[in-house]
Amino acid sequence: MKKSRKLRNWDNKTWLSSKSYISEFNKFLKTKINLNKNSKILDVGCGRANIISALQKKYKFKNNPVGIDVIANKNVKKNIVFKKIDALKYLKKKRKYDLILIKQTIHFFTKTKSNNLLNLAKKRLNPKGKILIFSLKTKNNKIPCFKKMRKNLEKSLKRDENLFKIIKKNLKKISYTNFNFKVNISKQKYVRMIRERYISCLLNMSDKEINLGISEIKLKYKNHIKFTDTLKCISYRK
Ligand SMILES: C[S@@+](CC[C@H](N)C(=O)[O-])C[C@H]1O[C@@H](n2cnc3c(N)ncnc32)[C@H](O)[C@@H]1O
Repeated sequence: MKKSRKLRNWDNKTWLSSKSYISEFNKFLKTKINLNKNSKILDVGCGRANIISALQKKYKFKNNPVGIDVIANKNVKKNIVFKKIDALKYLKKKRKYDLILIKQTIHFFTKTKSNNLLNLAKKRLNPKGKILIFSLKTKNNKIPCFKKMRKNLEKSLKRDENLFKIIKKNLKKISYTNFNFKVNISKQKYVRMIRERYISCLLNMSDKEINLGISEIKLKYKNHIKFTDTLKCISYRK
C-alpha cells in the first residue's frame, strides 16, 4: 500500500536552499518590490524560511518577517517568526503586510481554497502592498525527470495552468515575469533528492517506482546535471 507522505525535503540541502539560489531569488524580488526596514512580510508555505531569513539579514526589518507552514521542520530559521498553521486560518488574523509571498505553494490548494487564499491575502495587504506568487513554469519545463516522474509532473503542471486561470480571474490586474536559475548539480546529489522525494510529483510513488526511476536517471544523465529552473512570477499590487 502507498503511504501518504508530506513534502519535507523540498528545501533541505537542495539547490533551493543554496546561498546562490537564495541570493539570486532575493535579487529578483528586489526588481518586483521596494523593501525597506519598515516593510512587513508574510511568507505563505515558508518551508525552512530560507528566503525571508536572508531578507531579514539584509534589511533588518523592524518587524521580523512571518513565515507560516503546516509542517514545522526541525531547522526552520530563527531570525523570523514561524507559525505552524494553515494559511487560510492564519490569514483570517487582521494583520497587514507589504509583501505576501506565496512561493511554490499555491498548487497545494484546491480551486475553492486557492480563491479563499487570494481573497484573504488581498484583504491583508497594506496600500500598495504586493502579492507575489511563484510557480513552476508549465510549458517546456526542464526539471530532470524519469518517465513516471515526468508523467506526474506534466499532470500537475496541467492543473497549475487551470490554477493560473483562477488566479487571473481572482486578482485581475496582474503581471507576469520569469525567475530563472541555472542549476548545476552532481548526479549523485540529484539522485539523493529524488530518493528524498524533494518535489510533490514524487510523493505518492512507491519505493519500487522511485528505485526504478533512479536507475533511469543514472543511465540518462552524465555525472553533472545542468538545467534552468524557471518559475513563473505572478505579481499583484493593491
Ligand atoms: C514546495 S514547498 C515550498 C517552500 C518554500 N516556499 C520555498 O519555495 O522554498 C511548499 C510548502 O507549502 C506548505 N503548505 C502546503 N499547504 C499549506 C497550507 N495550507 N498552509 C500553509 N502551508 C502549506 C508545505 O508544507 C511546504 O512546506
